[in-house]
Amino acid sequence: MLGNFSYCNPTKLYFGEDSLQYLNAELPKYGKNVVLIYGGGSIKKNGIYDDVVAYLEAAGKNVAEIPGVMPNPTLDKLYEGIKIARAHKADFLLAVGGGSVCDYAKALAVSVHCKEDPWDKYYLRFEEPDCEILPVGCVLTMVGTGSEMNAGAVITNTAARLKIGHVFADESIMPRFSILNPKFTMTLPHYQMVAGIYDIFSHICEQYFSGDDDNTSDYISEALLRSLIHSSRIANKDPQDYEARSNIMWTATWALNTLISRGKSTDWMVHMLGQAVGACTDATHGMTLAAVSLPYYRYIMPYGLHRFKRFAVNVWGIDPAGKTDEETALEGLKAMEAWMRELGLAMDISVLGANEDMLEQLADATRLLPGGYKALTRDEVIRIFKESLA
Ligand code: NZQ
Ligand code: ZN
Repeated sequence: MLGNFSYCNPTKLYFGEDSLQYLNAELPKYGKNVVLIYGGGSIKKNGIYDDVVAYLEAAGKNVAEIPGVMPNPTLDKLYEGIKIARAHKADFLLAVGGGSVCDYAKALAVSVHCKEDPWDKYYLRFEEPDCEILPVGCVLTMVGTGSEMNAGAVITNTAARLKIGHVFADESIMPRFSILNPKFTMTLPHYQMVAGIYDIFSHICEQYFSGDDDNTSDYISEALLRSLIHSSRIANKDPQDYEARSNIMWTATWALNTLISRGKSTDWMVHMLGQAVGACTDATHGMTLAAVSLPYYRYIMPYGLHRFKRFAVNVWGIDPAGKTDEETALEGLKAMEAWMRELGLAMDISVLGANEDMLEQLADATRLLPGGYKALTRDEVIRIFKESLA
């Protein structure tokens, strides 16, 4: 393990089909005024809302609600939530939903007592909070983002057509606890389930495709990828398979809770490209990543050939005997493509609403990072988006 790093993840997890009852243990730890945050209504249809409200009532909480947090939560919605949380003198934020709801709760947690505009401070200047941070708890209903055990919060500024994620350094922004009940994810539409699976896959790849040293994080990543591919094939055929869905849920959490990025420079360019597509089309996060991944990986493969070969052999089981490194690496990407098609993922950005006329706009919305093996230029970004069109 090269370099110096610290590791601390204070989120307490409660996992399994009986895990909601642990609200009884957690709720008394926080103040009386709770803001319950949720999305567009799935939790009312599947009954999770009623169960959570019963726990809040039993704990004697004074509850205000922020309903209607949309996928890819917006800055306007954040401003609306700040007013509600301030008026309620919120002591605690309880997020019940997917990554959008959990991210939103964390963004709200650092904004309620913030004296400046949170967009400017956290998303343009990338500063850390210097105000009181409200504690957040999560009840997760959609698997993919890892938001349940990290300090990331992605917000979309629709007016500026920017979708920006801030991964806060302060661990007190990570949820204090998260309840992971695989059964809660069973009502997800197939499209959202596979989008979430690809999001997990991408999170692992974003960390794996960087560095040349021998690093334990890469071995953990390969194991997580193999488990995910195995379980995703089962869940794709039978979404009600509890064993597969529970493995996917646990893998998602470990894919992006800072463990496998230790000692790694990391990449994150697939997310930068995908977030640009998200900002311009409002498409589902995991699908935006799927649609740009192969053009991006085929483009950078020569710069990180040794790692792409290792990915082919250790993750996809490609036999390297008698092949050049390039042939082996390409076979790995072909196996990945076949798996993506099997799941029914978006394979181009055209199906998500992007077109040739949007190329400049997409490039404007793409944040350029150093990348894992190659720093992209704006021209290369445009080229990859072009390749990603149908
Ligand atoms: O709003 P409701 O009605 O709840 O419906 C949601 C939403 O339409 C639905 N859903 C969730 N749980 C359900 C359900 N439908 C039926 N049954 C259930 N049990 O699913 C839809 C998508 O939900 P959403 O929360 O938007 O999905 P996801 O978890 O993929 O979150 C996406 C957001 O997270 C950000 C993304 O950019 C995007 O804004 N990310 C956050 C990250 C982080 N914190 O580290 C990292 C990720 O890379 C990602 O960028
Ligand atoms: Zn993601």
